[in-house]
Amino acid sequence: MSVNDAVVHLDPADLSRQMAVDVREGLTASPKVLAPKYFYDARGSELFDRITRLPEYYPTRAEAAILAAHADDIAAATGARTLVELGSGTSEKTHALLSALDAAGTLRGFVPFDVDPAVLKDAAAAVAADFPGLEISPVVGDFDHHLGLLPRGEKRLVVFLGSTIGNLDPDQRRRFLTDVRSTMGPGDALLLGTDLVKDVDRLVAAYDDAEGVTADFDRNVLRVLNRDLGADFDVDAFTHRAVWDADHERIEMRLESTHAQTVRLDALDLVVEFAAVEQMRTEISSKFRPEGVRGELAAAGLRVEQWWTDPAGDFGLSLSVP
Ligand code: AVJ
Repeated sequence: MSVNDAVVHLDPADLSRQMAVDVREGLTASPKVLAPKYFYDARGSELFDRITRLPEYYPTRAEAAILAAHADDIAAATGARTLVELGSGTSEKTHALLSALDAAGTLRGFVPFDVDPAVLKDAAAAVAADFPGLEISPVVGDFDHHLGLLPRGEKRLVVFLGSTIGNLDPDQRRRFLTDVRSTMGPGDALLLGTDLVKDVDRLVAAYDDAEGVTADFDRNVLRVLNRDLGADFDVDAFTHRAVWDADHERIEMRLESTHAQTVRLDALDLVVEFAAVEQMRTEISSKFRPEGVRGELAAAGLRVEQWWTDPAGDFGLSLSVP
C-alpha cells in the first residue's frame, strides 16, 4: 500500500482566521446566518453519522443503493485511472466505486480532498488497507479556494456525493461547478449526487427527526463557537427549526432564540443581541429537479451522459463530461 504525504493548502491558522471573519459577518448580518461547515467538529461529525442512519433521513441510503446498482456502469463508462473525491469525509460510500474500478483493472490512484487532515488520514489508511497497490494522495483544502489546485491527470473521475452541493446557494454552485470544470480535461468525468424535490412532509421529517438527533446536530454549531471563539451561547436556549422554502426549493435549518438574550464572543470582541423567537439560519439544503441539475451542469460546461435514481426516485446521481 502507498499513502503519500498530504498536500496541504490550508493550515489550522488559516481555518481559524476564516472562521473569525465568517462568524463576525454572519452574526452582524440581518437576518443572522452561520455557515454549515462549522457543524463538523468531532462531535458534529459523529452526530451527522447518526443522522445518516435515522429512519427519516433517506438520502444516504438512497445514494448508496444507486451506487451499489451502478458502480460497474460507472467504471465501464469512465475507465477511470484516478478517483478524486471532494469532501471525502470518511470515504465510506466511495468503497463501491473503488471496488468497481479496481475490478475493471483501470484504477491506479485515489485523491481524497477534505478540510480536515485527521479525517483524511483515517480515510486514507482505511482505503489503503482495502486496496493494496493503490496510490493514495490526500489533499487538504477547501472548496472556496483550492479546487483549482487539485492534481491533474488523465482519466480522472471526480466525485461529489451526499448532495453536499445542496449546502450551496445557486451562485456558489455556479462558481463551484465552474471551478471543478476548469480542472477537468477530455476523458475526465464528474459524478454528482443530488437530493430531489419531493413531498414536503418527508423533507421536513428528514431534517427534524423524532429522536432529536438533527436538533442536537444543529445546536452543535453553538458549542463549536463557544469552544473556538470563546463564546457563551446557552445551547439549550435555542430551538431547532427545519423550514421548507418553496420558492427556492430548499430546506433551511434555523436556530430560534427561546427568549431575548445577549451573547458574547470573546475572541471576536463582539456582543450580539438575540430577540425572543429570532431565527438564525445555520444551513440550506437545496433539493433538485433532474432538468435543474442538467441545466446547472451545462452552464458550467458539463454534459450529463447518464442519470440514475433509486427505485423510489428520491435521489439522483449524474455522470457528466466536459
Ligand atoms: C451533508 C449537507 C448533505 O444537507 O442533508 C443532514 C447535512 N443537515 N441533516 C444535508 C445535514 C441536516 C446534509 N449534507
